[in-house]
Formats: sequence, C-alpha cells, structure tokens
Amino acid sequence: MSKTYFAIVFMFFAFYLVAGCTEIPDPVTPSYETTLDASEDRNSAFEPFFPIHYQTYLQNEDDSQMTEYGGSVPHEKHLCGDLPRAYKYCQPYLKNLWLGYPFSFEYNRARGHTYAVHDVLDIDRINRYSEQAGLPSTCWNCKSNKVPGYVEKYGDDFWAMEFHQFREEHDMDDHTIGCNICHEPETMDLRITSVPLRDAFEKIGIDLDNATRNEMRSYVCAQCHVEYYFQDPKFGAAAKPVFPWTQGYNPPETYEYYKSFGSTTREGFEGWFIDWTHPVSDTPMIKAQHPEFEMWQDGTHGAAGVSCADCHMPYVRLDGKKKISSHRWTSPLKHIEQSCLQCHSDKQPDYLKERVIYSQERTWEQLMIAQELSVKAHEAVRLASEYRGFKRADFDELMIQARERIRKGQWYWDWVSAENSAGFHNPSKAIDTLASSQQYSQQAVNLAMKATNYGIAPDLEGDIYEVVPPIEEHSRKLQMSQEHLDTHQWFQYLPKFEEADLVWDLNKRVSN
Ligand code: HEC
Ligand code: HEC
Ligand code: HEC
Ligand code: HEC
Repeated sequence: MSKTYFAIVFMFFAFYLVAGCTEIPDPVTPSYETTLDASEDRNSAFEPFFPIHYQTYLQNEDDSQMTEYGGSVPHEKHLCGDLPRAYKYCQPYLKNLWLGYPFSFEYNRARGHTYAVHDVLDIDRINRYSEQAGLPSTCWNCKSNKVPGYVEKYGDDFWAMEFHQFREEHDMDDHTIGCNICHEPETMDLRITSVPLRDAFEKIGIDLDNATRNEMRSYVCAQCHVEYYFQDPKFGAAAKPVFPWTQGYNPPETYEYYKSFGSTTREGFEGWFIDWTHPVSDTPMIKAQHPEFEMWQDGTHGAAGVSCADCHMPYVRLDGKKKISSHRWTSPLKHIEQSCLQCHSDKQPDYLKERVIYSQERTWEQLMIAQELSVKAHEAVRLASEYRGFKRADFDELMIQARERIRKGQWYWDWVSAENSAGFHNPSKAIDTLASSQQYSQQAVNLAMKATNYGIAPDLEGDIYEVVPPIEEHSRKLQMSQEHLDTHQWFQYLPKFEEADLVWDLNKRVSN
C-alpha cells in the first residue's frame, strides 16, 4: 500500500470562526486512511503521514519556559527559590503532608507529554533500589503508548504486574504518550483507549459511542487528567485504576465515595479506602491526583462547552497553508492569540493574562493557608496522642473525629493543589474547596485540643513554620540514613530503610 492518506477539507475551521462563542459548533470530524496497523503504538510510525502534526508534537520537548504560575520547567514543587530546582511559587510543606507515602520522596512540576516515559522511569516514588517497584503497572497507564497492547494481552491481570518488568520494552521517545492513545491509527478518528475512563463513564451512564466531537475534544484528556485510585482487590481486579465518580465529580462527593471501597479495619474508618496512613498523626489518608477534568467541567468554560482542546490545542498554521490542531500541550498563556482570542476577540491578550493571574493569585493565597492548617492539624493530633496530662473521658472518640477532619481537610487542599491550573479552570470552586479545607483542618485542631482539655494548646502557639519546620530534603536514599532521620522531629515516626543500591536507571538494569 502506498503511504497516501486523504487530508480532509478543513471546512470546519471556517464554521468555527463564524459561529463565535455563544454556540459551540459541532462540525464534521476529519477522517483519514493511513496504512498503519490498528495496533501501531510507535509515535514515529505516524510521522510520515502527519509531518506537520508531528512537528508540533515535538515542540512538547521545550521545557524551558515558565509562565507566572504554570509552565514546563520541571522543578521540585516544595522548594522555594529559583529555577531550575525551585520556584517562587512553592508549597513548602508538601513533604510533611505526604510523609510516609512515596509522594514525599519526589514530586515535580509536569512538563510536556514527550517526557512522560522518561519521567515515570526517573522518579523516586517508584522504588528503583529494589526488584519490587512498590507501585503496580497501573502507573504505566498514563505514560505509555504500549498500555492498550498490554491490556489486550494480559487483561485485568496487567495492573498488578511488576512495574519494573516492562521498563526494558520501552523506547523513551517512541512509547511516550502519543498518537495511538487518542486516535485510531487507521483513520485518526478520536478514540478513548483508557480502561478506567470507559468503566467510569459506563457506570455513570455516559455513552462514549454517542459522544459529540466537541465532547471528545475533552474526553481524550479525561483519560489521564483526572482523579483516580488503585482498586483494592476486595472490589475487583487488584490495582486496576478507577475514577471515583459514581456520586459526582466534586470534592464532597468523591470524599463520600472513599468512605467505601477499602478494607481498613481501623476504628471509625471501617471499610474506607485509604492510600496510606500518615505516620505522624496516625491518620488514614487519601491522596488527590490532578483533577483537571473535574475542576473544569462545571467552571465558566466547561459549563459553556469550551473544550480542553479549544485552549490547549489551538489551530495553528505551520506550513503556511492549512490550519491544524496544535499538538503541543502546554500553558495557553504562551499563545493567548491562538488559544483565547478565537472567542474573546474583543479583548487584548494582556487583559486576558491579567484575568488569569488575578484568579491564580487569590487561589494561591488560600492554598498556602490551607496547607499550613493541614500541617497544624497533624501536629495537634500528634501532640494530643502523646499527651501525658489530663484527658477527657471521650478522648478516643474525639481523636477519631479529629483524624477524620485531618483526612478531609487535606483531601480538599490536595484537590486544588494537585489540579494544574492554580484555580483558573474554575476559580470559584477552587476558592470554595480551599475554604472548606481550612475549616475542616481547623476543626481537627480544635478537637485535638478539646480531647486534652486544651493542655496541648501552648505547644501549638506561634508561627507554624517554627512549630513544624518544612521538610526540605527527603528521598529513599536519605531514609537509609539515621543521620538524616535525626534532622526533623517528624522523621522519628519513619522506619529506617536498609542500605541498597540502584537496580534501575531509566530503562536499563544497572545492578542485580
Ligand atoms: C478556557 C481555556 C482552558 C480550558 C477550556 C482548559 N484549560 Fe487548562 N489551562 C488554561 C490556563 C489559562 C491554564 C493556566 C496556565 C498557566 O498558569 O500558565 C491552564 C492550565 C492547565 C494545565 C497546567 C499547564 C501548565 O503550564 O502547568 C493543565 C495540565 C491543563 N490546563 C489541562 C486541561 C485539561 C485536561 C482541560 C480540560 C478538562 C483544560 N485544561 C481546559 C486554560 C484552559
Ligand atoms: C491527547 C490526545 C491526542 C494525542 C496524544 C494526539 N492527538 Fe491528534 N488530535 C487530538 C484532538 C483532540 C484533535 C482534534 C480533533 C477534532 O477536533 O475533531 C486531534 C486532531 C488530529 C488530527 C486531525 C486534524 C487536525 O489538525 O485537527 C490529526 C491528523 C492528528 N490529530 C494527528 C496526530 C498525531 C500524528 C499524533 C501523534 C504524534 C496525535 N495526533 C496525537 C488529540 C490527540
Ligand atoms: C495518556 C495520558 C494523558 C493524556 C491522554 C493526556 N495527558 Fe496531558 N499529561 C500527561 C502526563 C503524564 C503529563 C506530565 C508529563 C511529564 O511531566 O513527564 C501531562 C502534561 C500535560 C500538560 C503540561 C505540559 C507542560 O508543558 O507543562 C498539559 C498542558 C497537558 N498535559 C494537557 C493535556 C490535554 C489538553 C490533553 C487532551 C487533549 C492531555 N493532556 C491528554 C498525561 C496525559
Ligand atoms: C471556545 C470559546 C472560548 C475560548 C477558546 C476561551 N474562552 Fe474564555 N470564556 C468563554 C465563555 C463562553 C465565557 C463565559 C462568559 C462569556 O459569555 O463571555 C468565558 C469567560 C472567560 C472569563 C471570565 C470568567 C472567568 O472564569 O474568570 C475569562 C477570564 C476568560 N474567559 C479567559 C479566557 C482565557 C484566558 C482563554 C484562553 C486561555 C479563554 N478564555 C478561552 C469562551 C471561551
């Protein structure tokens, strides 16, 4: 077969401009005939057919530019200071809040899709010092083009398989998030390959076969840019990714959801789902993961039907002839003209940028307060549980309630913290969620104080940064050192790891 394909009339672009913003048009989806195999998973195989698209795809490699709050320089998010390692907008307590959970070892700002395989192989969250990754193959789901093939081969057994065993099969460029994840290789029709998104939509009655083109322009992103968890084997295939949407998309509803689907026997939390137990306050916690889709869907733009692709994949003209959808997924503030002015044609780019930053500044301010109160809540419960003075008769009951509020307050904080737009996708929901977080964390502090008849109150007074200093350095390697564990009062609740050498470096074994 010849390498020809039929580029389709880009009539819909003209339609788009005429219709403006009040109605989001739903024109014909372009369709092609490539000669690619239906199971093609290499990005490079698509290049000869779509060289211009591929050129924009390669622009994802540019990780040199930050905007005010977003951008692509992959610094450590808890470190305050200057790029490349730190940034002016940092969250100094991240390692404290995730202590005892792999996120406390390493957590960096996201960059382009072309780095996904590299970055998942290079992260300290997955144990590279051991034959056991400590996290399942589920982690490949949102990084690798090979997942559709793995799911076909291994079915639901795939998720709980050893993460490391698939390292060597991965080419760092060819198998990173790409064409086959969102397109049928033969026709380039948009498609959903993500098992958890298909499952989740089925449960809440969204029929993907009848999704409109405009919906698909967001659903392809909802394959990964969402909150998820790894299934407890009691409820189905072990470690399978699940999106917790059956009661709704928002923080209160997902919080309720996680009161089921677990197998903990902890008093007061029986049957709840837990990601880990925070060792300092001994609290059963849940960790939020980048809920962009959930944040966006009932915000100003989501509710108006403005899709992820409208802003993040604007139409560009590269070869001077036809317009194509840019496949460089990054901050739209780097190209406001293409991303925003198609609808906001009456506004200046600088005005729009200021409006974005206006929301982000306010979100950030409340995010900091929520984070600090969450730390204070852990410390209050720690102090109360070690308190030797007078305790109220209902001490145990109050402490259960305090821990529940820690879990809830941190969940609400994390929802906004993990969401990648610093509030822009839904400014009022971001602020509302942070206000709730602050209230729940403060309730945890109050309950712990009450349990000790306010005996711990003096120890909580003053600047939280002095009461509990932020943990700046921590990693798997450091947790092998007693000297390191002696540097912070909260480390006394961590076990010391055994000395070990690296087993894996990216997709190569470096020791046995
Ligand atoms: C109305 C335009 C618009 C829509 C629609 C939109 N976004 Fe965004 N998105 C933005 C802006 C603006 C930012 C903030 C960028 C910044 O701070 O530099 C952003 C930030 C992001 C980021 C972080 C980028 C960075 O540079 O750090 C991700 C990831 C993201 N959006 C994904 C999505 C997903 C997924 C959807 C759909 C569910 C979506 N966005 C819908 C405009 C939009
Ligand atoms: C994250 C999802 C995603 C990935 C990955 C992806 N695309 Fe797309 N692609 C889209 C969306 C969304 C559209 C817009 C479709 C529409 O509006 O109907 C699109 C449109 C297209 C089109 C139709 C013409 C146009 O420009 O709108 C082509 C061709 C295309 N992509 C090629 C590719 C190639 C080649 C790759 C791999 C290098 C790729 N895509 C990777 C989401 C993706
Ligand atoms: C298969 C999973 C997957 C899909 C589908 C996906 N993303 Fe991503 N996206 C990621 C991952 C993982 C990263 C972070 C990669 C890294 O840092 O190594 C990311 C990063 C990003 C960023 C940050 C890039 C930067 O330069 O800061 C944006 C913006 C983004 N995605 C938008 C989108 C949009 C819009 C869609 C839908 C058209 C989409 N993504 C579809 C997984 C996905
Ligand atoms: C496809 C159309 C479309 C695109 C693209 C779009 N917007 Fe909007 N925007 C809307 C609509 C519709 C509203 C609702 C208010 C209205 O009707 O003007 C809105 C409202 C807003 C508001 C006021 C409400 C709020 O949430 O603060 C801001 C600010 C805004 N847009 C910024 C942006 C920016 C920045 C971009 C590009 C990153 C962008 N928009 C891209 C359609 C769009």
